[in-house]
Amino acid sequence: MQNDSDQKHTLSDDARDLMALPGELHIDPLEKRWIFIAFALIGIFIAAILYTALVKGVSPPGDMETVDSARLHLSEEFAEDKLGVATLPDGSVRVTLVAARYGFYPREIRIPAGQPVTFRLASADVLHGVHIPMTNMGTMVVPGYVSTVTTTFPKPGEYPMLCNEYCGMGHDHMWSKVTVVSQERWHASTAQATGR
Ligand code: CUA
Repeated sequence: MQNDSDQKHTLSDDARDLMALPGELHIDPLEKRWIFIAFALIGIFIAAILYTALVKGVSPPGDMETVDSARLHLSEEFAEDKLGVATLPDGSVRVTLVAARYGFYPREIRIPAGQPVTFRLASADVLHGVHIPMTNMGTMVVPGYVSTVTTTFPKPGEYPMLCNEYCGMGHDHMWSKVTVVSQERWHASTAQATGR
């Protein structure tokens, strides 16, 4: 039982340490090192947040746009005949899509490579996510809100547009087709469409 009495001795030593005056307080060097590391990490994180916010201008999304998901068919922007790809007067391209179980509507879109394309999405029912693999086009589509993403597709090709938020039994089958065409083909087809 030698060990037991040793342990008691150590415990009472600890108790004496705790009751000691602050000036005599003993902190293990290893513990001191970790206290320093923990505070240094907190300092680095705060510095990173301040740097991205003040220097890089990164902030949470502002001016949230809301929409009545149950009345999309009656809305100005997301009524069925307003959906799809539109070239605005300034030449920019806007894609208006509705995400609904189980697809993105319209099911096929054709957009140009090498210029910014703005996607505007609204959900007609539950939470969906949109993602075009191999590109940085991706966002959540939250019922009641309009999701806006502007991106440029560098390479022409055919891409799937997938739902990446579980939305029900048909989630796996929720995808649409995106055809990205070269600038030449895009301008040829828009000229043809407008009869120029
Ligand atoms: Cu829509 Cu998963």
